[in-house]
Amino acid sequence: MAADQNDVLTMTGPGTPMGEVFRRYWQPVALSEEITPGGKPVQLKVMSEDLVLFRDDSGQPGLLGLRCSHRLTSLAYGRVEDGGIRCPFHGWLYDVSGACLQQPGEPEESSFKDKIRHPAYPCRDSGGMVFAYMGPADREPPLPPFENLLRGDGTRIADYYPINSNYLQNLEGALDPMHSTYLHMDKWSEVKEQVFAQPKVEVSLQETEWGVWRRSFGPTPHRETVVASYGHFYMPDGFMGIRKDSRNSGATPLIQKHQSWYVPVDDEHCRRFIVSFTSRKSTDGAEFSYAVSRDAFVAPGPENDYFRTYGEVDTISGIPLRAVHAEGSVKGLLAQDSMVNETQGAIADRTKEHLGSGDRLLIMTRKLLQRAVEDVRNGRDPQFSRPEPDDEGMVRVNGTDDFEQG
Ligand code: FES
Ligand SMILES: [Fe+2]
Repeated sequence: MAADQNDVLTMTGPGTPMGEVFRRYWQPVALSEEITPGGKPVQLKVMSEDLVLFRDDSGQPGLLGLRCSHRLTSLAYGRVEDGGIRCPFHGWLYDVSGACLQQPGEPEESSFKDKIRHPAYPCRDSGGMVFAYMGPADREPPLPPFENLLRGDGTRIADYYPINSNYLQNLEGALDPMHSTYLHMDKWSEVKEQVFAQPKVEVSLQETEWGVWRRSFGPTPHRETVVASYGHFYMPDGFMGIRKDSRNSGATPLIQKHQSWYVPVDDEHCRRFIVSFTSRKSTDGAEFSYAVSRDAFVAPGPENDYFRTYGEVDTISGIPLRAVHAEGSVKGLLAQDSMVNETQGAIADRTKEHLGSGDRLLIMTRKLLQRAVEDVRNGRDPQFSRPEPDDEGMVRVNGTDDFEQG
């Protein structure tokens, strides 16, 4: 891949080609619970834009430019009251649409406030997360009614964590169908001969209206069979992982659907938002629950060596499958995944890589993103920015045979 193509794929600031593509999709920017009516505003960076998120006293979420239109002080230090957010410096008051409602220091009869249009983006709560649309107002699509956000017949958990590298290499890491067998394999020294002897991971890919459908059959050490796993790419930064819950392997297993967005913070950071949904189908009626560790989150990184203990842990890297720190365990496979994605560099230099036959999904993904750049450049809506809901009014990211659709 040429350097300029890599720049196009990885840069999402305002005015960049991929930035214009991303700004045509609703993206999660926070959890709904992080902002309460009248509560403390939250400072955010999304796609290299400095923003402030708050919930006004009527419950409406608002996403505004961080710096006050008067003299550029941070509104994150303001107070949410009187139908908007009030700047701490001279008390200008803005509502969620960016209208300036008050300028207490100006003369009573002044209409100066009516001339102020503070940057504001539409945002909405859905499935426990706040979604924002940061694109041109006249192209705003409806917020897609994703199944994971709307279904009421099971358990849903929304969460996110911060990542210190570009969105694309982390998305590609999630989509990578091969790495589980190596990066995430425990008892490596015992099973590796068996892994090498087993049939290769078999990957099926298909282009769909949302992006790429992926099924892989991979080796499972200590077992005779291979298992199917589904991990689809959906535009523009999405990963939908579908799994059977191994703790309910009876006649009607629980199906977990983990929907992720790798939302750029800036070109060298992103946040992975996940909303997981599990239908209540187990014979014992038990609800699925997750160990959520965001409150005690310690990001695995070079400063803690990604929790590696080379001599003691029998994985290739020496990073344990479930890393443990003082306050609890690190979310899932995050320490291993973050290590492989971050050590590529803040923005992976794709001019230097050598893609093999197992990397076809990455090539397809990049082509779809490049096509979306062309679409937006030529005045078209990019793929899947306006998905059609099905008969039940929902948008589903799965194929017909994904464990019989879950
Ligand atoms: S800087 Fe915000 S009111 Fe003056
Ligand atoms: Fe992984």
